[in-house]
Amino acid sequence: MSKFEIREIDDSDIEAVTALWQRCGLARPWNDPDADIAFARNSPNATILIALNGGKIAASAMVGHDGHRGTVYYVSVDPEQRDEGLGRAIMDAAENWLRERGMWKLNLVVRAENQTVIEFYEALGYTVEKRVNLAKWIDPSKKPGFGQ
Ligand SMILES: CC(C)(COP(=O)(O)OP(=O)(O)OC[C@H]1O[C@@H](n2cnc3c(N)ncnc32)[C@H](O)[C@@H]1OP(=O)(O)O)[C@@H](O)C(=O)NCCC(=O)NCCS
Repeated sequence: MSKFEIREIDDSDIEAVTALWQRCGLARPWNDPDADIAFARNSPNATILIALNGGKIAASAMVGHDGHRGTVYYVSVDPEQRDEGLGRAIMDAAENWLRERGMWKLNLVVRAENQTVIEFYEALGYTVEKRVNLAKWIDPSKKPGFGQ
């Protein structure tokens, strides 16, 4: 049982969650946080979890699965509330959310420039698997710089 209240995002949480992602340096010009949140919430296979500390949003994670593996995005803890177990708590909740849906493995991607966060995931039992991550914008209109 977590000492933090953890639940799915509500409409009234969206502004605070996108602000949290900004403060955590997770916003990217090619990702529209509002659209990402709406898309995840509209999927039966994804959600956004938030952790509250003292009644205020302190951590969040987008969690979902593709029918084979689970994953997380936007794992974020308020910079002023780090090292208090919020990161572990939101990841525990994401893992439980996936387990409840029958998932047995979580794969996640860490940006190459975010090496320090690997130690956080290792503390939670994750191991680095030697893989090369490939990606393609199958909707080119969403690609950064499209039409310019
Ligand atoms: C990574 C992040 C979520 C960690 O949140 P946190 O609340 O500080 O983490 P916790 O306090 O729950 O720490 C859990 C464990 O990870 C370890 N840990 C956390 N951050 C660490 C770091 N930067 N380096 C090494 N270990 C770290 C803690 O020591 C703790 O270990 P323990 O339980 O064995 O004592 C937070 O720093 C963050 O939001 N970073 C910016 C956003 C980001 O990079 N997200 C990940 C995108 S892939």
